[in-house]
Amino acid sequence: MSDWHRIGLVTDIPRRGARCVNSPFGRIAVFRTAEDRIFATEDRCPHKGGPLSQGIVHDSSVTCPLHNAVISLKSGEMRGPDEGRVRVFATRVDPLTEVIELSLEDEAAAIREAAE
Ligand code: FES
Repeated sequence: MSDWHRIGLVTDIPRRGARCVNSPFGRIAVFRTAEDRIFATEDRCPHKGGPLSQGIVHDSSVTCPLHNAVISLKSGEMRGPDEGRVRVFATRVDPLTEVIELSLEDEAAAIREAAE
């Protein structure tokens, strides 16, 4: 069972940008795509720890600002210059209020939901 936390509004995040929230797992980057989809991952690139929240969001991916690795916001998997993945977290948005909620509990569910 997931434990959902309200973290703000969709409009608090610029399109194709991110904002950060602190958690017991460290800093989490919450991304908003050009299509207003919301994703959340660790704010730490698996290559050398670059701040993904400062990367460029394109489609459902982010490019790390340090060495340009592309990371899927759906699965957390990295494509070049190395292999690895970041932890992803489930998010949901209330369609009426546009409040974003974040779950810190079920990473597998986050990947399933993002794939839909
Ligand atoms: S730290 Fe992200 S690509 Fe190197």
